[in-house]
Amino acid sequence: MSDIDIILTTIEQTGENGVDPTAATYERFFAASPESADLMSHMDDILRGKMLNAFIELVIMPDDETKKSALHFEIKTHADNGIKAVMYLHFFEAFYRTIEEALGAQWNDEYDGAWQREISKLMGQIEADSSE
Ligand code: HEM
Repeated sequence: MSDIDIILTTIEQTGENGVDPTAATYERFFAASPESADLMSHMDDILRGKMLNAFIELVIMPDDETKKSALHFEIKTHADNGIKAVMYLHFFEAFYRTIEEALGAQWNDEYDGAWQREISKLMGQIEADSSE
């Protein structure tokens, strides 16, 4: 299975376990990055949910080129709002740790490896695009 297939499996299992990861993700994200909480203070739960869904759609994109250009677009529009590269790392980690928690004993090293590799890949692009 590819990393993306594994990531998709972890997200599907979260749904099958009856867990909506939105609230816990933002709780973790804002605890790790109070500056991000300030930047998002005007966004209600619906908008926060939309942003998380946009991230899920992006992370499971199977085509690398489409994914790169979708991420590039987000980095550029977010940079205008003062969003820094490290905030993405906090956001991604908050989501992936929430998924790990939702899976409990179903979580394994293969899942962890797939998420860590994907996050490093996204962060590599975010850091490169942010310094353009
Ligand atoms: C790959 C990761 C991310 C994706 C795909 C993403 C996606 C989005 C989308 C689609 C919206 C528009 C929501 C709507 O109006 O319907 C949005 C808004 C926003 N995002 Fe993100 N986001 C990401 C990461 C982040 C991070 C790390 C922050 C850090 C605080 C952030 C802060 C914001 C803010 C402040 C807005 C509202 C901007 C405004 O007022 O117009 N986002 N995001």
